[in-house]
Amino acid sequence: MQGVLITIEGIEGSGKSTQLLRLSEHLRHLELPLVVSKEPGGTNLGRELRRLLLERHPSGEAWCADAELLLFYADRAQHLETVIRPALADGRIVLVDRFEDSTRAYQGASGVGESALDRLSDLVLRGLRPHLTVLLDMDPEVSLQRVEVRNLAMGPEFAETRFDDAELAFHRRVRSRFLAIAQNHPNRVALVPARDPADQVEAAIWARVAPLLRSAGFRVD
Ligand code: TMP
Repeated sequence: MQGVLITIEGIEGSGKSTQLLRLSEHLRHLELPLVVSKEPGGTNLGRELRRLLLERHPSGEAWCADAELLLFYADRAQHLETVIRPALADGRIVLVDRFEDSTRAYQGASGVGESALDRLSDLVLRGLRPHLTVLLDMDPEVSLQRVEVRNLAMGPEFAETRFDDAELAFHRRVRSRFLAIAQNHPNRVALVPARDPADQVEAAIWARVAPLLRSAGFRVD
């Protein structure tokens, strides 16, 4: 049996982690062969890349856009080679927190052009596409506020991680790019309104995941 690749996408604070946990618990409960992973950071070396990409360097130096793009794809190439492709070949369900669409949405919103994205995508993905992408959609004004509340709850040292107007504008661009991807790939992408109560969001996700798994030969009832 060939495996199934399911990715989950959305802007920060859209409830991705909660829903990923709920879905993976549901699949584990059904005793299905499951691999849960994420990008960036789904491998040992990838976790180093994640740190380099997401933590501010003490020197204040930041990656230029091209270097950042290549690092996200380096993480993805390693992840595909050592985790995703072997698990799919082994007939497993692979559930990934962020994948290619995040690069298209985030690096696209930072100004990287479509042709660079297409070329790297061809090189690294070699035609592999998720069978299903769950896109949790939410207004960034609401989702970023959730992140701020979460950061504050972590302690006063996190209080400075507040989003300014430029960041809000950036996340608005990211959201529009995600929505455009959903519009251009209606068969692959399930657009799920993420402001609904978590149980409702979970049910909407399951309504898309269950038929896919059933058609791939997994027992989901
Ligand atoms: P996370 O904590 O939700 O995994 O977020 C990782 C951050 O990395 C998030 O801000 C989105 C960003 N990101 C990109 O910019 N490009 C990518 O290709 C990926 C996978 C993540």
